[in-house]
Amino acid sequence: MYTLDLMQLTQQQFLDEYWQKKPVVIRQGFKDFVDPIAADELAGLAMEEQVESRLVHKSEGKWNAAFGPFESYEHLGNQDWSLVIQALDNFSEEAAEMIEPFRFIPHWRLDDLMASFAMPGGSVGPHIDNYDTFICQGSGKRHWRVGDNSSHVEFAAHEALLHVEPFESIIDVELETGDILYIPPGFPHEGISLDVSMSFSIGFRANSSVSLLSAFADHLIDNEQGAELLSDPQRQVTSHSGEVSNKDYSSLKKQVANLLDDDATFKAFTGQFLTNAKHELDILLPDEPFELSEVSNLLHSHAIKRLGGLRAFYFEDTVEQGLCYINGSELAFSAEIANGVKLLCDNVMLMPNDVSSWSQNAAFVELVTELLNQGYWYLAEAE
Ligand code: SIN
Ligand code: CO
Repeated sequence: MYTLDLMQLTQQQFLDEYWQKKPVVIRQGFKDFVDPIAADELAGLAMEEQVESRLVHKSEGKWNAAFGPFESYEHLGNQDWSLVIQALDNFSEEAAEMIEPFRFIPHWRLDDLMASFAMPGGSVGPHIDNYDTFICQGSGKRHWRVGDNSSHVEFAAHEALLHVEPFESIIDVELETGDILYIPPGFPHEGISLDVSMSFSIGFRANSSVSLLSAFADHLIDNEQGAELLSDPQRQVTSHSGEVSNKDYSSLKKQVANLLDDDATFKAFTGQFLTNAKHELDILLPDEPFELSEVSNLLHSHAIKRLGGLRAFYFEDTVEQGLCYINGSELAFSAEIANGVKLLCDNVMLMPNDVSSWSQNAAFVELVTELLNQGYWYLAEAE
């Protein structure tokens, strides 16, 4: 279990002062930190097809980048390269635990846990991210510089590397094991490994308006919604046939606004959109489907855990009516188990004690059985 120490600030104070506002070094944010995964395991993961990985190296002043899966690292030598693995939370339970202390920010804002292994001199180069990130230094040390969020010129240092022109630093530090660097979107930064080192970044990515709107349009098309034509039976004669009148412009705008104002439709879309997995899930189906009759007992003896990277959310109001969203789909359930469903969505792991008031409830047991059989939740030893 990881305990996050935000420089004696409360979580709300941290959000008020720094979140989306300014970068900060949190010395010993994770006290007594130990890497949750070994470097060779990370290198092994980057050899797998379903894992998104990237190698960045610099030779004779020239940047190179390649996407995994990789077959070997021998040609890279002992310096100036780094290996980045996305969505480590989907593949390593131990590493996924690093996300838990950040749950004071809702899960729908979370992107993934990224790991980076670097040789001395290794770096992905100076760049700007469009997400908030908590870079937690694991073993080894890295030198980090962060610039301000004024406008900076970006350029392609390689076809797969967007870099930023040299910037003045507002932060210039050496991070040691357990230190955390928080960087909001738009602040240029560069980390260079001082020895063999690992770092783990918890990233929070917000959606752009255009990505939401375009996904909403896809949702409407998929569900054959929004096909209503603009209607104007009260039309008056115009003497300016080339004009789109203010009234007509308002009707056109209202036609689109009406779609957004329809909460049932927009919520269904948002719930499905936000729970779409960001990276491929490592779903393992049970050997034999679970029977309803056994699940009630299993809830007494075992913990249930949510698959790493699986997203399960509910809306404050419609959960009470029996709706939640899991892995890109809307799920209807009996409204009487709304509080049980909230437990499943709010917690990555539930112990027998947590669900003791639900383990005899037929509707809850039925839902859990379905989730276990889909491989979305799995049984674990109750520690
Ligand atoms: C890294 O850890 O190598 C890169 C992390 C970042 O700059 O976002
Ligand atoms: Co970055």
